[in-house]
Amino acid sequence: MLYSIITFLKSLANFKVQANEQKIFADWIYTICMILMLFFFVCYIAVDIIFLVADTVTMTNLLIAFVFVFGAIFVYTMITMLKRMSTTISEKTGEIIKTLVNAMEAKDQYTQGHSVHVANVTKLIYEHLPERLKNKINKARLMDAAILHDIGKIGIPDSVLNKPSKLTQKERLMIEQHAKLGKKILEPTSYQLIGEIVYCHHERIDGKGYFNVSPDKIPLESRIIAVADTFSALCTDRIYRNRKSYEEAVQIIKDVAGTQLDAEIVEVFCNIPKAEFESIV
Ligand SMILES: [Fe+2]
Ligand SMILES: [Fe+2]
Repeated sequence: MLYSIITFLKSLANFKVQANEQKIFADWIYTICMILMLFFFVCYIAVDIIFLVADTVTMTNLLIAFVFVFGAIFVYTMITMLKRMSTTISEKTGEIIKTLVNAMEAKDQYTQGHSVHVANVTKLIYEHLPERLKNKINKARLMDAAILHDIGKIGIPDSVLNKPSKLTQKERLMIEQHAKLGKKILEPTSYQLIGEIVYCHHERIDGKGYFNVSPDKIPLESRIIAVADTFSALCTDRIYRNRKSYEEAVQIIKDVAGTQLDAEIVEVFCNIPKAEFESIV
């Protein structure tokens, strides 16, 4: 009995974590499942106790117990099915996103692996955020936006992306359009909110970003991705410069806190131990 109660509570806790992180199921579905499970389970235990106390087993009593047991098993099966569906959907979505990102990175020989690195640094920053900021963010949405942040580069000519010499003003403006293109690609899909985050990933906290979005309109997710993106770019060899060391990159990021990047996110970023950055790809 104790084992089944522990298993039951564990499965509910896991389901809640999954529901919260993936947001595939609305909160009300989770709440209804919880209430039904608890109702059947409590009724089943109550009926068992009554049987023990009364010490009589009639056909009606057995039927009542059976209904409660069946109800609990039914809801448990539903929860398990929802969990499986949720995992399958998120795995398939992840594969589609990876394919899109691979297609985009195949165009730009200098940024291969950049999207995954930005996503990993973003995850690290998220994990170190104070609860106050964490509660404002949907983690799944943040991670999808991080890996898709440069998806708009798919629409930028290869000759501009891979140009070995200095870009002209016109070419620079073309590159800057990738944030807008990213939003355009994602907007007609259920990734509309991610499109907004992608649009703002090059916006500056002083309002002097690609599209001069005012600081109060820059989503928190975009501010986090901007720090991760800057760090990843600094730590990678580019056609026009060599990569910076970890210390140099951190110093550059500190120098632009409050002007280019969000000062609070930079502070969180700077407090992450170096070893944690070394453990990610
Ligand atoms: Fe970008
Ligand atoms: Fe980027």
